[in-house]
Amino acid sequence: MPTDPLTPYGNRPMVTPIVNAVNYEYSSFEVLRQITDGEIDGYTYHRDDNPTVRAVEKQIALMEGSEDCIVCTTGMAACTMIYLTYLSAGDNVIVFHDVYGAHYKVSLILERMGIDVTWLDANDYRDIHKSIKPNTKMIFCETPSNPLCKVVDIAAMAEEAHKANVMLIVDNTFATPCNQQPLSFGADLVVHSATKGLGGHNDLMAGAIAGSKECYNELWFTRQAIGTTLDAYSASLLERGLKSLELRAERMASNALALAEFLAGQTKVSNVRYPGLQSDPGHEVAIKQMHDGFGGVLAFDVGETQDDAKKFIDALEVIIHAVSLGATESLICIPCLTTMLYMPEERRTTFGVKHNTVRLSAGVEKPDILIKDLEQALSKV
Ligand SMILES: Cc1ncc(COP(=O)(O)O)c(C=O)c1O
Repeated sequence: MPTDPLTPYGNRPMVTPIVNAVNYEYSSFEVLRQITDGEIDGYTYHRDDNPTVRAVEKQIALMEGSEDCIVCTTGMAACTMIYLTYLSAGDNVIVFHDVYGAHYKVSLILERMGIDVTWLDANDYRDIHKSIKPNTKMIFCETPSNPLCKVVDIAAMAEEAHKANVMLIVDNTFATPCNQQPLSFGADLVVHSATKGLGGHNDLMAGAIAGSKECYNELWFTRQAIGTTLDAYSASLLERGLKSLELRAERMASNALALAEFLAGQTKVSNVRYPGLQSDPGHEVAIKQMHDGFGGVLAFDVGETQDDAKKFIDALEVIIHAVSLGATESLICIPCLTTMLYMPEERRTTFGVKHNTVRLSAGVEKPDILIKDLEQALSKV
């Protein structure tokens, strides 16, 4: 037997070793057969599997309460792997308008491949049964959603989906498993941009999908075929991020609530959206399915015009003007100039994203420093 790459010294190191090998020596043809037949956990080629990646998959599965988890290169790679694994020409997929902007681009590819995409507003999730067609195979949603933090009732959606033999996929990036575990409410798969909260330090890109062992095997086939396996170094960074996730998620959520409460009282701000606010339309459902906080992201409109929002962001001194979210630093952006730039304007506006809508991802800084920063920047608008 080759030495176990995770215990190369006979006793386990505290940190999973970064195994950079592309390929692994077969110590005998018998070992090759045992690996191929799945009798032993062995490794052959990085596109198939990697021990550093496998270690992190097991940790995320534990956090999401799933049988298994598969990790890949980015959050969008994870979403695309799901579409490629479970959809064929002639199928229909229902995707909520309120999902990360790149889904719009992926939908153009899916439509070119003969897959019909139905877009639904998250506010209309109670009528999901009206959108399910005989060829619908999948419903894809985010809750809370990007960027408007809309909340959908996962259990109610899962019930409708399963009545029609449809899979429900929930993107749990905004909540992280610390605040929400969609599988426990009936979702079939949970997907993450692990680039965000799970990694948490703006230094890696990764995606993760948690679900049953059967789904792991099906998704593994796709990952192995198309080559979206994560590199071992990023997997190691992701492992380090996961170690502090609980602490970071707690601070990000309490900061987000404090910032949302502050902003809700400001005259130059309107439409503050954060599921933790009692006034938020998603609050009632959020308290049913979220725990220990409501995620670290909020959205709001600044002034009346985009220039007002730009002036405000330019005046910030602590909160950083950048895309992405879920990191230790607080980050802010105008979605229609960044993550939703590619989307036709009429689509964005129909579901509530305006020219002056701002998305703010709370970091782990002291809340009073962030509030002071918002206060002084608003005074410049
Ligand atoms: C909710 C959500 N899902 C998926 C993605 C895509 O993730 P990635 O950038 O890792 O491909 C993002 C990116 O911002 C996101 O916010």
